[in-house]
Amino acid sequence: MLELRSRDHAEKRVRAGVLEQGTTDTLVEAAVGERLLREGLPHRGIELRYGGAGHRIAFEKLVPGRAITVYGQQEVVKDLIAARLADGGDLRFDVDDVALHAIDTDHPYLTFGGERLDCDFIAGCDGFHGVSRPSIPEGVLTEYEREYPFAWLGILARVKPSAEELIYARTERGFALHSMRSPEISRFYLQVAADEDIAEWPDDRIWAELKARLETVPGFVLATGEIIDKGVTPMRSFVAEPMQYGRLFLAGDAAHIVPPTGAKGLNLAVADVRQLTKALVHRYETGSDELLDGYSKACLKRVWRAQHFSWWMTTLLHTFDSDDAYGHRLQLSYLDYVTSSEAAARTLAENYVGLPYGSLE
Ligand code: DHB
Repeated sequence: MLELRSRDHAEKRVRAGVLEQGTTDTLVEAAVGERLLREGLPHRGIELRYGGAGHRIAFEKLVPGRAITVYGQQEVVKDLIAARLADGGDLRFDVDDVALHAIDTDHPYLTFGGERLDCDFIAGCDGFHGVSRPSIPEGVLTEYEREYPFAWLGILARVKPSAEELIYARTERGFALHSMRSPEISRFYLQVAADEDIAEWPDDRIWAELKARLETVPGFVLATGEIIDKGVTPMRSFVAEPMQYGRLFLAGDAAHIVPPTGAKGLNLAVADVRQLTKALVHRYETGSDELLDGYSKACLKRVWRAQHFSWWMTTLLHTFDSDDAYGHRLQLSYLDYVTSSEAAARTLAENYVGLPYGSLE
């Protein structure tokens, strides 16, 4: 495992925090779910808040037996690193000169820091800006992309959550999300301009804007506290196909990005790695490349479902400057539909908690 950043950076960088049912099951099966089961917060619903009212999407009714777990992505990263080190794994951090070679042969290898690592296979799990995807020759990949005219400003605050479940709020001032990490730590996001300068957002302004976008239903008061982390998340949809070239297999953000609404990023990465693990085990047990050859196709079904869902949730809840009056009314009509029709609510719920593995094949 070769990582550009330090272990400290990987373990502290705050990312999303919603694990699908299948992700939790996968981590538990892989024996890295002990702390997740102890500290994670199981949630059986979310609230959609707009037009002066809150509407609960009830997972227990719509998708019985399936739920999400609120647990920070960097906590998953900590658990994975600890488990690998305990198993005697060789993890290298702060490695900044990795290059991939001969990936279209049976003898691919990596070079870094004057060393050479010969490989059977290479898993490119190095994110959107990593070296793996650009190592594939020009003309092999087809790329699909969509940009959004806004970003998310995210904060972590030392304050008890003001609600028991996540609140996705659509307002005329823009989108806001109330999430959490523990009974003492809350997480919030605000829709801001794509090129937003975080220096323009002192703590007082952030709380005032969160209050303006969340205190929109009778009796709801947002508790405030010390802000302990602040950052701006860009919004992008991106897919590169296929997710394989020779002996290099791309997984997670190296192959695809979703906008954060619905928190699919980590969940998709876990689904990719689960598929790749199955294919590699099959190859070492039987000598057959069949599952490895089908890796990209198998992953892309779920990738595109999550692409659609993330784009849809983003479109449903954000304010677009370019919105004409007609587009605005369509958005409100769809929100009314999702919060009144059981069929529409179930569509949201089954995608939100994650479709079962194998159901998309
Ligand atoms: C969180 C992030 C998301 O993108 C989301 O849709 C829900 C929750 C979070 O960080 O808690």
